Amino acid sequence: MSAALKTAVALQGRVDGDAIFLRPLSSEDVNATYLRWLTDPQTNQFMETRHRPQTMQTICEFVARVNARDDEFLFGICLKKDGRHIGNIKVGPVKQNHSVADVSLFIGERDCWGHGLATDAIRAVSRFAFTSMNVDKLNAVAYAANRGSIGAFLRAGYVQEGLRRKHYILDGRPADVAELGLCAEDVKS
Ligand SMILES: CC(C)(COP(=O)(O)OP(=O)(O)OC[C@H]1O[C@@H](n2cnc3c(N)ncnc32)[C@H](O)[C@@H]1OP(=O)(O)O)[C@@H](O)C(=O)NCCC(=O)NCCS
Repeated sequence: MSAALKTAVALQGRVDGDAIFLRPLSSEDVNATYLRWLTDPQTNQFMETRHRPQTMQTICEFVARVNARDDEFLFGICLKKDGRHIGNIKVGPVKQNHSVADVSLFIGERDCWGHGLATDAIRAVSRFAFTSMNVDKLNAVAYAANRGSIGAFLRAGYVQEGLRRKHYILDGRPADVAELGLCAEDVKS
């Protein structure tokens, strides 16, 4: 992958799913809505962003940091029906020696939960990664208690490969973390 690919994606504008499309996120997307998503206790309960105060500045820095990399893509998840931006999905960085990358996401607009949109976004970003980022395997992690996230990855074809016991702290207590993975050949076959 190269800076040229990143430019091409930015110019091409979008990666299509069924009900959603993904478009590259820019500093112009950092607004009160984005800040609301990350500070909503129900949305951020399983997100690592909850560990430090989120501000427009920290979000701007995060978006700029990811966008400066050639091996990491940050997309806004938007509804096809009206273009509404409802959350974000990230793929990368790529571990070049192993051709693997991580996928993470959130749907910030809670009225959009439970409609298969995370599944749709995971499928779209996974297809993009396998065809354009030269990766052979995608990985994701989710707290075992986050049934929605695990459900979305499983429905998108990921396999639960492990359960790290008492791996992180959640609400002051040790919590199990599920490891999920998707191989390129899983999608082709
Ligand atoms: C977790 C999250 C991404 C799920 O998004 P979503 O669009 O609601 O997920 P989908 O509608 O694609 O659901 C996928 C599967 O999970 C199930 N599911 C969704 N939310 C669920 C919940 N709260 N509890 C149990 N199952 C749930 C769905 O029923 C579906 O399963 P099915 O195929 O058996 O019907 C979304 O709720 C979210 O962004 N939450 C806050 C941030 C977060 O936790 N991000 C993930 C960090 S790892």
